[in-house]
Amino acid sequence: MRTPIMAGNWKMNCDNPQAEQLASAIAEQAGDIEGCEVIICPPFTALTTVADALSGTDIALGAQNMFWEEKGAYTGEISGPMLRSCGCEYVIIGHSERRGRFGSPDEDFTAELQKVFGDTDASVNRKIKAALSYDLTPIVCGGELLAERQTGQTDTVVKGQVEAAIEGLSADQVSRIVFAYEPVWAIGTGEVCEADEANRVIRLIRQTLAEAVSEEVAAQVRILYGGSVKPANVRGLMEQSEIDGGLVGGAALQADSFCELIEVAAEIKRN
Ligand code: PGA
Repeated sequence: MRTPIMAGNWKMNCDNPQAEQLASAIAEQAGDIEGCEVIICPPFTALTTVADALSGTDIALGAQNMFWEEKGAYTGEISGPMLRSCGCEYVIIGHSERRGRFGSPDEDFTAELQKVFGDTDASVNRKIKAALSYDLTPIVCGGELLAERQTGQTDTVVKGQVEAAIEGLSADQVSRIVFAYEPVWAIGTGEVCEADEANRVIRLIRQTLAEAVSEEVAAQVRILYGGSVKPANVRGLMEQSEIDGGLVGGAALQADSFCELIEVAAEIKRN
């Protein structure tokens, strides 16, 4: 039995007063829901505010990115020990936006952003290793662009991202990772991936882990779906056998909708 996870990725939203309000509202409404792990990933600037608002609850704190070095002359970067000292237990790594891969902006803009947000398969692998070494659970994201889907490359792209992410890791290390399949064209666009197709790609991720590591590890790793998850579509997604929860952007910014997602995941996966 894999316990489901509902993780809220707040992205670049919420100053500290807003973060305090949203985290407190979620803590109040979701505090007693059992059977689903809940993670909130606010911006770095709101980590301690949210940690305070969540203290005494089972809701875990996560960051949206980290650098692999422990400390040093890396202006603007944040290390694993810094995240731990804010109370983080999780860290999102390799989100498509950090890889400079966006679903909706125009092509020129995307090309420009690719240079700014420079995560690659290699940096993702280094960040995963660093996160694990600081006892942070990485939530490792991957997924194809619309153009890749349209040209039949979905499986190759996703399999390649997963293989690169776990390169050089032991079976024990891989078993501690949470994966998230996030088709880039479905992120922030309102366009959700069909539930059975999301399930198929997540099964492929599991098979990739089985081949690269072991059946046992593949069966125990949690793999989330992300990309326009909302109350209207969460039921169909959570009913899929391979989908162990959601990584949620837009719908995690309202306590009511986020808590509804948590309730549905808990209810469906309990049965
Ligand atoms: P979305 O974002 O739910 O707003 O599509 C998901 C994500 O990027 O993790």
